[in-house]
Amino acid sequence: FEYLALSGKTVFITAGPTREPLDPVRFISNHSSGKMGYALAQAAIDAGARVKLISGPVNLTAPERVECIQVETAEEMLTASLEGINSCDLFIGAAAVADYRPVAVAEHKIKKGNEEIMELRLVKNPDIIASVAALSQRPFTVGFAAETHDLLSYARSKLERKKLDLIIANDVSVPGIGFNSDDNRVTLVSASGEVPLPQTSKRLLARQLIEHIAQHFNQQMAA
Ligand code: PMT
Repeated sequence: FEYLALSGKTVFITAGPTREPLDPVRFISNHSSGKMGYALAQAAIDAGARVKLISGPVNLTAPERVECIQVETAEEMLTASLEGINSCDLFIGAAAVADYRPVAVAEHKIKKGNEEIMELRLVKNPDIIASVAALSQRPFTVGFAAETHDLLSYARSKLERKKLDLIIANDVSVPGIGFNSDDNRVTLVSASGEVPLPQTSKRLLARQLIEHIAQHFNQQMAA
């Protein structure tokens, strides 16, 4: 970075999947590897920020100088995200949070029965980024939208519904980008327009994203 665009700022980043337990040995989760969120944490450090990374279970080592809080469930991710939020200037939600969790967690391993079909009852999880954006004293809030179709219209509706400042639209139907790949390709969507960022490594894309996000953030600060 030519200058430290986030110097002195505190950035919270969520990354990875959440795991929602069914019983002591099983859970509901998704294919997020944490690569996108960890790359953003590195890029934010390089831009001069103090970074707290709130991470679901992944096989990655947190970048140096990042405070990394490990969580499993969406509820734990929410608690860790809200802790110290008053000191947070910029919040980026790159985690793939499970929208639902099992209504009850069985105390013992669920046994195979005779029935051919087993039904799971799920209850909605809290929306972490919407909770952050709803705070009266809120950080500049940036979400992702992982979509398999109608990418930009769904992204725009999430931007509005969750009251975000920016959203990063990520087509997760294309092989080689999105979940668990080393590369990604996204479109940065704001109230005023769209910036497509071509396919590259998550490491380089994260640097471009942090640069764009810092620009919007600093503009809002100056306004
Ligand atoms: O981790 P990788 O393997 O590198 O993959 C990167 C990625 C594809 C996971 C990432 O680029 C990405 O798109 N992350 C968002 C994944 C997602 O589940 O998006 P969503 O459209 O369901 O959610 C929209 C936004 O709300 C996201 O910022 C999400 O973090 C947030 N959210 C969603 C549900 C919930 N209960 N709480 C939330 O905060």
